[in-house]
Amino acid sequence: MFQKLKQRWKVNGLNLLLIITTFALGGSLCGYAGRKILLLTSLEKGFLWFILYIILVTLLWPLCVLLISIPLGQFTFFRSYIIKIWKKMSPPAGQAGGRKEHLTHIAVFASGAGSNAEQIINYFATSQNVKIALVVCNKPGAGVLQIAAKAGIPSILIEKERFFKGDGYLPELKQLNIDFIVLAGFLWKMPASLLNAYPKKIVNIHPALLPKYGGKGMYGQFVHQAVIASGDKESGITIHFVDEVYDNGEIIFQTKCEVAEHDTPETLAQKIHVLEHASYPAVIASVIQKQNRS
Ligand code: GRF
Repeated sequence: MFQKLKQRWKVNGLNLLLIITTFALGGSLCGYAGRKILLLTSLEKGFLWFILYIILVTLLWPLCVLLISIPLGQFTFFRSYIIKIWKKMSPPAGQAGGRKEHLTHIAVFASGAGSNAEQIINYFATSQNVKIALVVCNKPGAGVLQIAAKAGIPSILIEKERFFKGDGYLPELKQLNIDFIVLAGFLWKMPASLLNAYPKKIVNIHPALLPKYGGKGMYGQFVHQAVIASGDKESGITIHFVDEVYDNGEIIFQTKCEVAEHDTPETLAQKIHVLEHASYPAVIASVIQKQNRS
């Protein structure tokens, strides 16, 4: 069971222990707070008391769990977890207030193993507002292609000449009504054709705290090697809009992790992936939601 949870939440053993502890402490805290609040009323223990207790505990639970998650270092996980539950409980878009929301079609550009792409695909699988409509890849055999196929998402393999000197595959994107682009381990620079067609609609994730350790050649293990060599005590992730310069666009979100004495580029990469998986889908959702509202 623990193994399954580790895989599902993409966390290591220590984080799983901290998450379970947070659930237990948060649950106890909200039970305790619920009883204390009801004691302030003159209600006798009975059916009504019980119903009120259930309502109170349900309302207090997210708050208590978030509070406990801060000292245990699990805030990012629980914030996304609660957002997910909230989304599941909310009425589908279009029913709320009778206003039909726009369905945003995302193209995920990825060329590696695709673990971030997979998280994004899973996160939006049941979304009423966002559809992952296409995976764009420049590496035959990349893991992300299998992930797309398994999820039933169409993918295209692109080649350099047409991407940089031609139309940037804009016709394919337009044909699928793509209105937002997510880069998740895509190493080519975005050509002007796409930057012009998608202003403020292309986001990227970088495995370090920009503006440090960014720019051409700074990807994957090179980033983590540089961080460790510098002796920095912390690293993290940056989600940013994409412009014509590598890793340069406006920063949307950053979160940090510790770089321990014993960390290697590999162990640091694992920590960074945990942060990325916990944050990237929810940040994408929030950017899209804000843009659709304005
Ligand atoms: C991530 O670490 C991301 O920060 C960077 O490329 C990596 C992709 O990893 N842009 P994956 O293919 O999603 O596992």
